[in-house]
Amino acid sequence: MSRLLVCPPDYFRIDYEINPWMRRSNVVAPEEAVRQWHRLMEVLEKEVGVVLERMKPVPGLPDLVFTANAGVVAGRKAVPSRFRYPERQREEAHFEGWFREHGYEIVTLDEGLYFEGAGDLLGFPDGWFGGYRQRSDIRAFPILSELFGKEILPVELIDSRFYHLDTCFCPLSGGELLYYPAAFDRYGRAAIAERIPADRRLAVPEREALKFACNAVCAGKHVVLPAGCPDTMLLLESRGYRPHPVPLDEFMKSGGSAKCLTLALD
Ligand code: ARG
Repeated sequence: MSRLLVCPPDYFRIDYEINPWMRRSNVVAPEEAVRQWHRLMEVLEKEVGVVLERMKPVPGLPDLVFTANAGVVAGRKAVPSRFRYPERQREEAHFEGWFREHGYEIVTLDEGLYFEGAGDLLGFPDGWFGGYRQRSDIRAFPILSELFGKEILPVELIDSRFYHLDTCFCPLSGGELLYYPAAFDRYGRAAIAERIPADRRLAVPEREALKFACNAVCAGKHVVLPAGCPDTMLLLESRGYRPHPVPLDEFMKSGGSAKCLTLALD
């Protein structure tokens, strides 16, 4: 049974602008955000059957809802994030505190070495990919690779709209990859192609990549993705997956969607 860390959106809002999606003038409708978040949780629990661990929201930390950026967890080890922007650095102690209280062995990265958790580190059982340049530093990946005993292939993120790896890259349980190729440079696309054969690479159209189609949560044959991505749903169905669309446009105002709102704990 997979467990996910989530954080209710009590204080979610757009207070600053640290990615091209965020506009302070694009005010969040708080009730709608709460409704969308609860619907996502209901789908995850009742339709997908995952177990949710809820952390306590903190006033003044609007992006704490994006638990994908808490850090990365493998086995009993947790590496808390080191955020690039000061606005989010204030979240670090809260995420680290949660890991500590829940018995994880905490491994900290050096100060000044940016790493934004599972938002930038994703993969398959036999190999991971690390997204760098927009948020995480490439230098974090050799350290994490050594720590977890996993190969990590760094891939550069070249489009500021796809600033975390999980906005354009979603490994599926059957070994397929849902992704948006134009978010990577030629070398990155070649590195991905070398690891994942063509018949397992599912490219989403730009129109749906911009609706966060790749920011999906896959558990077994279930894929929870933002509403408004019909072509992606067809692609998933053609490979035997069951897509569950959930409206999450309030969170898109902050540059996030389904996947960003969860952190895989095992
Ligand atoms: N506003 C947040 C930020 O810019 C959104 C984070 C989304 N998280 C993710 N894993 N893509 O940091």
